[in-house]
Amino acid sequence: MYDLKDRTAVVTGSAGGIGRAIARRLAAEGAAVAVLDANTDGAQETVSLIREAGDDATAIGVDVTDPDSVERAFAEVARWRGDADVAPDILVNNAGIITVSRVEDTPVEEWRKIFAVNVEGVFLCCKAAVPGMRARGSGKIINISSWFGKIGKPNYGAYSSSKAAVMGLTQSLAMEVAADGVNVNAVCPGTIFETKLRDVADAMSRDLNLSTAEERAKAIPMGRVGKPDDVARVVTFLAGPESDYMTGQSVNITGGLLMH
Ligand SMILES: NC(=O)c1ccc[n+]([C@@H]2O[C@H](COP(=O)([O-])OP(=O)(O)OC[C@H]3O[C@@H](n4cnc5c(N)ncnc54)[C@H](O)[C@@H]3O)[C@@H](O)[C@H]2O)c1
Repeated sequence: MYDLKDRTAVVTGSAGGIGRAIARRLAAEGAAVAVLDANTDGAQETVSLIREAGDDATAIGVDVTDPDSVERAFAEVARWRGDADVAPDILVNNAGIITVSRVEDTPVEEWRKIFAVNVEGVFLCCKAAVPGMRARGSGKIINISSWFGKIGKPNYGAYSSSKAAVMGLTQSLAMEVAADGVNVNAVCPGTIFETKLRDVADAMSRDLNLSTAEERAKAIPMGRVGKPDDVARVVTFLAGPESDYMTGQSVNITGGLLMH
């Protein structure tokens, strides 16, 4: 549908959940997908699923919070594609973690960990990919933010502000590279089930006697929670040529929960 043949895509955090669905969709559209994750077994499983469908992928271990690890992973992607200087055509910054606690109860180390993965990780991967994209005159960067980045929620201070930061970075970078053929957009998923992060958030909520996502899901206008593939389809649109005149946007994927 979007014809991503001959494109190289990097998807961080694609050992499962939303990232895996994105990697599978991009591969199904013809892209060669580098599955980057700290969880190398899960990354390898994603690659197996993609190859079983007859598409192309490789698994590469990375810690997105570590500049050296990110640099090594991008060099490996380039080697895999047979050109030491080549930048990916598509970069999806999806790796992310969550915590549920009031601001006053959040340990400083936990706050820093959330920002290290959710914000610094996006920054480091953009830094690794942008010079090559700019030199080539083309590239698509899609950052996975959250609807919690657009609205504050009690007990989500760290997560919510990290996801707002992702949108700030998306807009600033989008302007820096707009004239170089590089598009930078974000998506803001709502309540997406079948992911580890969702399970972690629900377990933490139960411990604090807070409502779980399943209970809150009744408020979704479409009457259902989201699935990873609901996000993957929009990301694939943003990775393909149909979205060439879009940049700096933060697109909600929430079943109608959020409309701005
Ligand atoms: N599930 C939801 O309801 C929801 C809603 C809005 C936004 N999101 C965002 O979607 C993205 C994907 O989350 P998910 O729900 O699929 O969760 P998930 O836990 O299934 O996926 C996150 C992935 O990131 C990887 N990861 C974590 N830290 C890493 C690191 N330092 N280096 C490399 N990889 C690392 C994990 O191993 C995991 O595979 C996240 O950015 C999350 O914040 C999720």
